[in-house]
Amino acid sequence: MFGRGDHISLNLSEDKVPLKKKPLKLRRQWNQLSKCQKTLIYMSSLILFVTMFYLISMEPKEAVISVDTTLRNSEKNTLGNIRNDPRDVVENGVELNNDNQVLEDPEGANMNNKVDNEQVVEPPKNIITFPDPTTLRQKAVVKAFKHAWKGYRQFAWGHDHLKPISEGYHDWFGLGLTIIDSLDTMYIMNLKDEYNEARNWVEKHLNFDINRDVNLFEITIRVLGGLLSIYHFTKDEVYLKKATDLADRLLPCFESESGIPYSDINLFTRKAHAPKWSPDSSTSEVTTIQLEFRYLSWLTENPKYENVVTKVSQLVHRLEKTDGLVPIFINANTGQFRVYSTITLGARGDSYYEYLLKQWIQSDKTLEYLKNDYVESISGVEKHLAKRTVPNGFLFVGELLGGAKDFKPKMDHLTCYLPGTLALGVHNGLPDSHMKLAEDLMTTCYQTYAQQPTFLAPEITYFNIQGENSNDIYVKSNDAHNLLRPEFLESLWYMYQLTGNTTYQDWGWQIFQGFENYTRVVNGYTSIGNVKNTANVRPKDMMESFFLSETLKYLYLLFSDDPKLLDIDKFVINTEAHPFPIGKANL
Ligand SMILES: *[C@@H]1O[C@H](CO)[C@@H](O)[C@H](O)[C@H]1NC(C)=O
Ligand SMILES: *[C@@H]1O[C@H](CO)[C@@H](O)[C@H](O)[C@H]1NC(C)=O
Repeated sequence: MFGRGDHISLNLSEDKVPLKKKPLKLRRQWNQLSKCQKTLIYMSSLILFVTMFYLISMEPKEAVISVDTTLRNSEKNTLGNIRNDPRDVVENGVELNNDNQVLEDPEGANMNNKVDNEQVVEPPKNIITFPDPTTLRQKAVVKAFKHAWKGYRQFAWGHDHLKPISEGYHDWFGLGLTIIDSLDTMYIMNLKDEYNEARNWVEKHLNFDINRDVNLFEITIRVLGGLLSIYHFTKDEVYLKKATDLADRLLPCFESESGIPYSDINLFTRKAHAPKWSPDSSTSEVTTIQLEFRYLSWLTENPKYENVVTKVSQLVHRLEKTDGLVPIFINANTGQFRVYSTITLGARGDSYYEYLLKQWIQSDKTLEYLKNDYVESISGVEKHLAKRTVPNGFLFVGELLGGAKDFKPKMDHLTCYLPGTLALGVHNGLPDSHMKLAEDLMTTCYQTYAQQPTFLAPEITYFNIQGENSNDIYVKSNDAHNLLRPEFLESLWYMYQLTGNTTYQDWGWQIFQGFENYTRVVNGYTSIGNVKNTANVRPKDMMESFFLSETLKYLYLLFSDDPKLLDIDKFVINTEAHPFPIGKANL
């Protein structure tokens, strides 16, 4: 403080010197003017003063709010974008106004001071904004999000996951996973304060120079995917810079003999290796990074990211399969599948099939070989994996063990992403028969929820196919946990968007009630150990980042009365619910 005081007194004494002379000189000149000249000067000063006062009082107040941290760089000066329709202001107003009352004022009475603004500046077309929630169900989901976020913010800020019961945190990569995974969810929900705080954390604290092993697939879908999708919405360069830094650190994974990536890498030393527990990589992991790396190549105009992942897709394309179905392990050195490993559309297989379709869509349908592999694999599913239960004939997708020999009537909850993907394919011109398969699987997945007293599905369900049991569905106690997973909600959203059938919304609402009743705790939401007993759900004290990234996002989208709130003709959505643009022309 004393330093600053010194400075001021020094300045003052310097300024005094010229100040003494000036008034004398001015007064002498003034006295030499005629009376008429003096009057003229008085009058013009008065007019100038009145005009300035008028202009200042007319300045619209809201236009000044526009400068915030979200949109930096060149986007800042576009935020004076103010139009006559109050909804426009809200929809384009991620930065404009934090006051919900504007929306609840349909007459626009509060908006008068904005409406008069003449200086309408169109925002760059490529910034994407979202309206406030419109339905009660959406508002309930926003409330749930805020509840989860509050606990995370209070007890786990900057860490990967919240442990809501012990009021602690869990670090897996040590990269603030929940923050990065939640950015686009908050942006879609129009939660400005929360979003801005998270965005500033990314700018100031997200640092990849850490001496820790991370899983290539997980960090790609959550962190690279999360950064790229929020970049797509906001065009905030902070995200692209971080995403590029991360991807550069991941590239050494692909320096294996075959080009199939190793599963893990140290972000600091940039040394890649196979997982500790196995010499192989998971098939779904090496084939579920392509959307992200390709999009980054488009953005940076540097093909190196797309090149390494395309090579993986092409290599897997050439391998021998069982009617398009793939074993779940592949070796990075030999580039071959592990021969006797399981075939499943659940864990370690699932998103291989998903990204076949979505890469084709992302590429404006130019990567034909991937679409062909996808269509063949769905035939494979129908031929080998799809079976019906006794007595009610529910269709499910089971697994093949030991190199396609033994059928196991078991389905992971993860597999419930499939009907949504099938419907997306039909929407893009693939065989209509896939829609019937999708609808039947929806019914079965719904049953895995509805038959539990908590209305929550277990991680794994078994099915009765030979009448050895009186129920269609049964759950082993080791499989009865629920990790707050999103896959069925994801499918509900696709099915709702594509059919307009509101039954899918109602199903989602029932499941949301299940989460509210049995997983909500004082400081957030928790995975539970047992969906079969409402009196003892055995809370597991863990809130995964995908609950905020995917589960709540899909619920929010599902409950919109605008099925195209996030239009699947414009966006392709990665396996962690992060939307990217379709086609290189729509960056
Ligand atoms: C909506 O979906 C449900 C569940 O599959 C089905 O029972 C119902 O017939 C469908 N409604 C319409 C109008 O198609
Ligand atoms: C959840 O709680 C609501 C409100 O108490 C109730 O209407 C609903 O039936 C409950 N659902 C389940 C699955 O327990």
